Amino acid sequence: MSKQFPDGFFWGGALAANQCEGAWDADGRGPSIDDHLTGGSFKLSRMLTQDIKPGVFYPNHDGIDFYHHYADDIALFAEMGFNMLRVSISWSRIFPNGDEKEPNKAGLAFYDSLFDCMHQHNIEPLVTLSHYEMPWGLVEKYNGWESRETIDCFVHYCETVFKCYKDKVHWWLTFNEINTGTTDMGTLLSTSMVKGYNGPISGLKTTPQQRFQALHHQFVASGRVVQLAHEKYPDFKVGNMDCFILSYPATCDPKDILANEAQMRLSNWFCSDVQVRGYYPAYARRYFKENNVELKMEPGDLDDIAGGKVDFYTFSYYMSNVVGTHKDLQKAQGNMTIGGKNPYLPSTDWGWQIDPDGLRYALNEIYDRYEIPIMVVENGMGARDKVEADGSIHDTYRIDYLRKHVAAMREAVVDGVNLIGYTWWGPIDIVSAGTGEFAKRYGFIYVDKHDDGTGTLNRSRKDSFYAYQKIIKSNGADLS
Ligand code: BG6
Repeated sequence: MSKQFPDGFFWGGALAANQCEGAWDADGRGPSIDDHLTGGSFKLSRMLTQDIKPGVFYPNHDGIDFYHHYADDIALFAEMGFNMLRVSISWSRIFPNGDEKEPNKAGLAFYDSLFDCMHQHNIEPLVTLSHYEMPWGLVEKYNGWESRETIDCFVHYCETVFKCYKDKVHWWLTFNEINTGTTDMGTLLSTSMVKGYNGPISGLKTTPQQRFQALHHQFVASGRVVQLAHEKYPDFKVGNMDCFILSYPATCDPKDILANEAQMRLSNWFCSDVQVRGYYPAYARRYFKENNVELKMEPGDLDDIAGGKVDFYTFSYYMSNVVGTHKDLQKAQGNMTIGGKNPYLPSTDWGWQIDPDGLRYALNEIYDRYEIPIMVVENGMGARDKVEADGSIHDTYRIDYLRKHVAAMREAVVDGVNLIGYTWWGPIDIVSAGTGEFAKRYGFIYVDKHDDGTGTLNRSRKDSFYAYQKIIKSNGADLS
């Protein structure tokens, strides 16, 4: 059986506005939640400050200045052979406080030029409407997604950008990693309920009631936006986006199997069950009851969710972990949950367990469940790169990670999965969302920018640049 990706497969990379653009207060942009986050590290949590403090380094303010470098960066992506680039629109570039009636024209103009530039290079935009990007004005006014009012603000923003870019963008995602909102970790960037909070991002606490109510508001918003797209722009495709943290039972003890099932439902299936199938899954009833969650709904909410089923399923995949009930289970790090260590898997320097076979398994599970087209819209490894005296960077670890994950996707395609695209996370080095570091690099393109804020912003090709170029040129066949 030939092991090939389908013709027309999308190969590319993924970025988020707040992590790359910089220019945080340029051309009328308002602050977003990310602009209130200091730098951190593997050991030191980022801090959220209600006020922007003078003299403190906020790495997202300048990012890698993609705002002014995008034309050159996109030319480099085209050189690698990209035919898709996932970017996000910074909501507060369009509506600086989040709730204005009229958009900021300069903000709209920026994305207009960005999408034009992509098309000049035959790169299809895949646009995330909200990638951890709440306008700060809505944090102060409504405590993010805690309030229903935020739904209308979001829908108005989406109406505006849909209308503006209808001829330039056809692939859209509503909320980045919406399922992180089921955890305390997601309370910061996903549901943005941080009004009045000053302190480490790892110290944020919310109740299940708050978290699931906020998610309900996001589901209604997403449903309305999908319906709007379907009614007015029939050639649009709108997807969900989940952070898929595959977990395995630690042992074959049936208690571990059940514990893992509960974890998989909560972390991975709950949000996509709602967004793909259009209704709350049956198992949610018991979880809500046992966790004192009583959702406040308005008439029409469930219709909006039912009418707004997504067209394709997308997810990020970095790692897997282990769930068990036995005391000897060791902890492993992760981007959403801190799970158990798997003795069969290596880890990155940040403790994320590397599991390419898990990607194949996840793809099979997802496709079995939903049977709609799938894209892997984030995958990659954060690593420290060494720049040699001649400027070269021999990132063999990243090439190895890339090849193994592409091979796993290829197997899943042979297994029967309708996989239509792959966008590597951070094809150019950007600010880490979790730690705020520049040192945690994902890129095929190195950016001379450092954790003390210094650097020339010069871009250079790593060895992985050429490895990915070869993979794309051969449509995933050449993994040597
Ligand atoms: C995903 C996010 O969770 O993981 C990205 O969608 C993020 O925004 C990526 O950057 C990698 O995480 P980190 O913390 O290493 O940047």
